[in-house]
Amino acid sequence: MNLELPTPESGDSASLVDSIANRRSCREYAEAALSIDVLSLLLWSAQGITGSDGKRATPSAGGLYPLFLQIVVQRVSGLEPGIYEYLPDTHSLKRVGDHIPEGAVGKLGIGDQPWLEEAAFVMGVTAKLGDAVKYFESQPPQGERGARYVYMETGALAQNVHLQCTDLGIGCVLVAGFDDLKAKETLALPSNLEPTALLCIGPKRNV
Ligand SMILES: Cc1cc2nc3c(=O)[nH]c(=O)nc-3n(C[C@H](O)[C@H](O)[C@H](O)COP(=O)(O)O)c2cc1C
Repeated sequence: MNLELPTPESGDSASLVDSIANRRSCREYAEAALSIDVLSLLLWSAQGITGSDGKRATPSAGGLYPLFLQIVVQRVSGLEPGIYEYLPDTHSLKRVGDHIPEGAVGKLGIGDQPWLEEAAFVMGVTAKLGDAVKYFESQPPQGERGARYVYMETGALAQNVHLQCTDLGIGCVLVAGFDDLKAKETLALPSNLEPTALLCIGPKRNV
């Protein structure tokens, strides 16, 4: 059964200018859990449906929407640790994998990146890369245009999430330096999904 997420609320937001000015990568996380409301808002900021025509928070070339979100929940109150897939159409989560053995998430980074393990959750951004390449294969450079779009969309998504985290006063860092094969395995991705980014998110340490 899918888990319905709380409706995203717009609270007392800082100005967009403040969020842009104050956005910084955070690599030191507190041990506290994040609430499911925060997770809900961040998923909505990343891939939520924002238009009656099904359009989403993040722009997508040709309206293809090739991106997907797999969340590694480590400390979110009310949610069992494990892997969840975000379902934008119903703004809900589907549990797709059990708790990941300790240390496995931390090993996804190229080099030592302990923030992967210490974040309250890691938002895994994945893409149907092959579908995007095929969809845009008539556009030059053939075989590359679709892939470019996928990585641009990943960047736009990451910035939405980063700015939303800044507004909420919580930490975020975009990790694009990760081992693709290990990420596919750890996130239990089907063969047609490629990982494009990992966003570590959690309450900041020492604030
Ligand atoms: C494409 C891209 C890949 C990145 N990959 C990593 C990464 O693997 N690990 C990490 O800790 N930070 C990563 N970062 C974050 C950058 O190190 C960070 O944005 C940069 O140092 C500037 O600092 P600021 O974000 O605090 O302004 C990445 C940023 C971008 C845009």
